[in-house]
Amino acid sequence: MLLKERIQAQLPEWRERVRKLVKEKGDVKVGEVTIGQIYGGMRDVRGLVTDISYVDPVEGIRFRGYTIPELLEKLPKPEGSEAPYVGGLYYLLLVGSIPTLDEALAVEEEWKTRSKVPAYVFDVLRALPEDVHPVTMFSTAILVMQRESLFAREYHAGIKKDAYWEPMLEDSMNLIARLPEIAAFIYRFKYKGGELIPSDPKLDWGSNFAHMMGVADAKYRDLSRLYFLLHSDHESGNVSAHTTHLVASSLSDIFYAASAGIDGLAGPLHGLANQECLGWLLGVYNKYNGVPSREELHRYAWDTLNSGQVIPGYGHAVLRKTDPRFTAQYDFGMKHFPQDDVFKLAAMVYDVVPSVLLEQGKAKDPWPNVDAISGALQYHYGVTEFDFYTVMFGVSRILGVSANVIWDRALGQPIERAKSLTTAMLEAIAAKV
Ligand SMILES: CC(C)(COP(=O)(O)OP(=O)(O)OC[C@H]1O[C@@H](n2cnc3c(N)ncnc32)[C@H](O)[C@@H]1OP(=O)(O)O)[C@@H](O)C(=O)NCCC(=O)NCCS
Repeated sequence: MLLKERIQAQLPEWRERVRKLVKEKGDVKVGEVTIGQIYGGMRDVRGLVTDISYVDPVEGIRFRGYTIPELLEKLPKPEGSEAPYVGGLYYLLLVGSIPTLDEALAVEEEWKTRSKVPAYVFDVLRALPEDVHPVTMFSTAILVMQRESLFAREYHAGIKKDAYWEPMLEDSMNLIARLPEIAAFIYRFKYKGGELIPSDPKLDWGSNFAHMMGVADAKYRDLSRLYFLLHSDHESGNVSAHTTHLVASSLSDIFYAASAGIDGLAGPLHGLANQECLGWLLGVYNKYNGVPSREELHRYAWDTLNSGQVIPGYGHAVLRKTDPRFTAQYDFGMKHFPQDDVFKLAAMVYDVVPSVLLEQGKAKDPWPNVDAISGALQYHYGVTEFDFYTVMFGVSRILGVSANVIWDRALGQPIERAKSLTTAMLEAIAAKV
């Protein structure tokens, strides 16, 4: 497999680099931790390492050193399309360099050969209660495939530690290859009377998802690839990435680890925010029977804050500027359907809400994050069941977290075990100052 060769070729150098750093400079301090941070969700505590993406507070995400606009320009795309192949993005995440068209297509081909979803996965999903959340279905589908993990099998057969990453890569490729069909199944099963659309082996991974969703407009294929690129990775400290990393650090395989990561994504402060965000937009829309005036929107935003709720889609733990993932989707909407009502409303919210949050003065970041707009774009294409949005986020996020876990194993990262203290101990430390 091309990805395996490309990673293999870099391993001696990477391993030596890390070994040397830890051996010679292992005692060098990179930061301090305050009591406020311990009680404050470990915000800004430097305790993780990844070379796959980095979030600059002002500039936003860089994947392997490339900004979002750079990626949209440089990654290979299907002819006549504006969003890159997801296979090319995965190559970049894993290998670290921009692939050629052939390299991107090689990943796409590899996924095609691994894309058959075992029938038992669908049986399990069909057996779940009718009112189960689509994210629960998605996480369950991933978890139930754990029985097929090559990593688990090879580990128990005694594989050497420095080869752990290889079955981790194999498992990740198998898992990712199946995600579009699993996600589309959940959508069609839950919302479209179970009328399934068979996979089209001629299509690339992202387009095939769009096809199996049953969205007729071909532009939705571009949007799907764009969406999967934008949501794939966001450093290691966010809940879904950190959970996946933590679970995998005990040498659980990617099925266990990714399923756990998705469970973290399900929280309203993380992935679920994109569904809450559209719910909030529609709440405004319904209240005013259409796109409101700026004054009405201003009042509605204040009403939300005064009732003790957050405005979903705004604010970020790290970013201090408009999220470039928001901008990429905003630009897509502006280009293709600026007159769409829900999109127009989302654009007006972008105009009004930051100033409301600034007036209130609580949020450290009053700017939109990725979730503020993604739902409005899905809505335009008729994917209006916003319970489903976190499944799409999950499909994308598994690209990033699996790439991280493969490299964790390649570089021999140990089981994670942070130290905790009691409140009395912290009080005693504080009393000495
Ligand atoms: C993303 C988020 C969870 C980051 O949390 P954080 O790092 O604790 O954010 P801050 O440090 O800026 O929070 C400081 C205060 O501002 C508030 N705040 C932050 N974003 C806010 C928002 N969008 N609306 C209202 N209040 C907000 C916080 O609730 C907090 O209030 P508190 O002191 O009463 O607890 C937070 O901004 C939020 O809840 N946003 C809305 C949900 C969302 O969009 N989530 C998706 C993230 S990708």
